[in-house]
Amino acid sequence: MEAELRSLLEEARVAFSGADTVEAVEALRVSFLGKKGKVSVLLRQMGKLSAEERPVVGKIANEVRDELRALVEVGLEHAEARARARDLSERLDVTQPGRRARSGHAHPLMRTMREIVSVLSELGFVVATGPEVEHDFYNFEALNFPPDHPARDMQDTFFIEEGVVLRTHTSPIQIRAMLEMGEPPVRVVAPGAVYRCDQDATHAPMFFQVEGFFVDEGVTFGDLKGTLSFFLQRLFGADVRLRLRPSFFPFTEPSAEVDMSCFACSAGEGREACRLCKGTGWIEILGAGMIDPNVLEAVSIDPERYTGFAFGIGVDRVAMLRYAIDDIRLLTENDTRFLAQF
Ligand code: DAH
Repeated sequence: MEAELRSLLEEARVAFSGADTVEAVEALRVSFLGKKGKVSVLLRQMGKLSAEERPVVGKIANEVRDELRALVEVGLEHAEARARARDLSERLDVTQPGRRARSGHAHPLMRTMREIVSVLSELGFVVATGPEVEHDFYNFEALNFPPDHPARDMQDTFFIEEGVVLRTHTSPIQIRAMLEMGEPPVRVVAPGAVYRCDQDATHAPMFFQVEGFFVDEGVTFGDLKGTLSFFLQRLFGADVRLRLRPSFFPFTEPSAEVDMSCFACSAGEGREACRLCKGTGWIEILGAGMIDPNVLEAVSIDPERYTGFAFGIGVDRVAMLRYAIDDIRLLTENDTRFLAQF
């Protein structure tokens, strides 16, 4: 009986190796392992065995059954793989034109930010970045906002914990960069996300700014205006003129609000109806000024020897102006119907 079991196994090995469809494997499974299959039929004669023989044959029978099950499993796997391959080759029409892969593109905000950075890089500004979770020292104190000073109210701040905030502007990178780079000249452009806890159609709780600043011997307000003219003309067109109005920032003295001439309408006829400048002919575009001596002192740069200018520009505002977008929320809703237009 032992010999018969072994020859059954031999027979099965040959049979399974020739079974190349799922149905063929299934049929073999039934014929060997089924209720009325060859193994069962053989084992029905176990009763005729002696008590000593029975456990020995039983053990061999189990081994044979295990191997048969493995043959079924492997056979099914091969048959299925073969079926899949056959399926594919039947369906694959190599003469069909390919499907074009849909490729994405940079978000209009990131594109605008890169453009701003690239124009300033041409002027020798070096890119620097800083953390979005920032110490009070860099975001306020070293920028000449004393503790409890009302100027802090200008920036609706998200507080993380005592002495730690979400940065409200990119100006803290001025402090970090000057500390890191040491002795001037220091000429830096610093792009990044900033956070304020106010929100409406023109303000989002997170937005983007680019900071620019230059410290060296003999840097003047004229250098600031020249740099900004070049920069804004590159972004908005060669006809753009600038107007500087007195303003206040703790970290600059004097400070200016910078307006550029409206690029959407021309003076005279129809100006009153211009959506961009609201009939004034001027568009407010950025804040700027000469770096306050207190700021230079905070980073151990001698304000008697060095002067510097700084400016900060809102990327969202530039993008909205350049692409004529009228609701800031469109920029963060990630509606691909909107984004695909750029
Ligand atoms: N940090 C200012 C803000 O977010 C923007 C700014 C104004 C930056 C004047 C400057 C500057 O560097 O000189 O409101």
